[in-house]
Amino acid sequence: MRASVLSDWLAQRLDRGNGQPIYRQLHRLLQQAILSRELPPGSKVPSSRLLAQELGIGRNTVTQVYEQLVLEGYVSSATGRGTFVAASAPEEILGLPDAAAADAADARPEPSPLPAARALSTRGARLIAGAGVSKRQWGAFMPGVPDVTKFPARVWSRLHNKYWRRLRPDLLTYAPGGGLASLRHALADYLRTSRSVRCTPEQIIITTGIHQSVDLAVRLLSDPGDVIWTEDPCYWGVRSVLHVSGLQSRPIAVDEEGINPLADDLAQPPKLMLVTPSHQYPLGMVMSLARRRMLLEYARQNQCWIIEDDYDSEYRYGSRPLASLQGLDTSGQVIYVGSFGKTLFPGLRIGYLVVPEALAESFATASAELYREGQLLQQAMLAEFIAEGHFTSHIRKMRTLYGQRRQTLLDAAAQRYGDALPAVGGDAGLHLVMQLPDGSDDRLVAAAALERNIIVRPLSGYYAQPPLAPPGLLIGYACVPDEEIAPAFNTLADAIDATLPVFA
Ligand SMILES: Cc1ncc(COP(=O)(O)O)c(C=O)c1O
Repeated sequence: MRASVLSDWLAQRLDRGNGQPIYRQLHRLLQQAILSRELPPGSKVPSSRLLAQELGIGRNTVTQVYEQLVLEGYVSSATGRGTFVAASAPEEILGLPDAAAADAADARPEPSPLPAARALSTRGARLIAGAGVSKRQWGAFMPGVPDVTKFPARVWSRLHNKYWRRLRPDLLTYAPGGGLASLRHALADYLRTSRSVRCTPEQIIITTGIHQSVDLAVRLLSDPGDVIWTEDPCYWGVRSVLHVSGLQSRPIAVDEEGINPLADDLAQPPKLMLVTPSHQYPLGMVMSLARRRMLLEYARQNQCWIIEDDYDSEYRYGSRPLASLQGLDTSGQVIYVGSFGKTLFPGLRIGYLVVPEALAESFATASAELYREGQLLQQAMLAEFIAEGHFTSHIRKMRTLYGQRRQTLLDAAAQRYGDALPAVGGDAGLHLVMQLPDGSDDRLVAAAALERNIIVRPLSGYYAQPPLAPPGLLIGYACVPDEEIAPAFNTLADAIDATLPVFA
């Protein structure tokens, strides 16, 4: 757009009667002209004197608008040569923050594909292509979500009021590395007695959950290019964390005793391995003692780290919760990670790592450096919640409830299918896996269920090679009220029958 054309374009749009200051209108219009490329990158804008004259407004107003646009990166001025539109407008980098930008976005033509230089990185694209997160996080049969409606809200709100009444500045600042001492003490007691974890409070690092704990451990204990063994199948969330870590993931198939590295695998020791010994995710088997010993010995001989993800071990219905792998480790190679996401509520975002003594200080420092932790007030409340006994009594109550729900689900499945669709998953956890006949497409079944408002996850998606994976469905029962389980299962069964001809 030439200078005179720009003046006309602006003159037609400036509205002296609409109550908006001329400065603001001119600023918005120029932004709009730049974003819509009416004023292309590199083009010269008229001098403030000329534009003021043509629009019949004060020169100061135009100068101020130009200065603002310079500050925002839309234009740059070269002394003696004039003012020029920047090569790329800030919106292209930062997104559109305000109404002016939104107007401008409306005026823009259809977005064209991103040029290669602005596209996602290889690892970013891989992360997005393999993303597993579901838009819905609540309702029958969302796997992995506890019944948050049963959380002792009264106790929590009493603690909340108590801490806000006696406001303590030290709880409202950033968290020093590692988290609040009272929570680390309460957790150390709990983990020692309930999970046979060997630890002192100093070995505990508070995080926002298992995702962050794994991220931190991987960053501190490996370098890009190192190999990590993951279980096949495994949880999509940690797989995503690993996707962007620069590590090479080597999926190792599981058998009924847990991760099962074969001779070829054992011949090339990894730097790290990530396992779920108490309750394999998502299939549910428990790692045998023999396999635990083998892994620990192999890791000791080959200087590997084992990350133990102990995400839901509290929920075992037929027997007592199992001891952790970390408790068997005598040479400090296990990094234990856990979370309050399943025991209290996922949105709390508090989890923890237990690391060998020699690493505790480094982990605490790194956590503060990388994530600038906070949430000390919630940590103080949680420490008191545990110390007053609410945590263990809530777990006890939920264990009974989830055990009943699991049985109700198994009964509903047996009533509809007999033993044609067996469930696996051990007598534990918040979900079970229902196997589908060989050759069926579990993604189609999950999609048909979602159309009927039932959330289930296709088992094949948890495998490194979904097309070769056994088909099945992850069915979460913990967050479904007892009386809704059978009707919801029947709706799911309608979706199964409609998708798989064998049941039609
Ligand atoms: C095996 C496993 N690990 C970790 C998590 C997530 O833990 P957090 O919410 O603490 O990040 C989940 C959640 O479903 C899980 O299934």
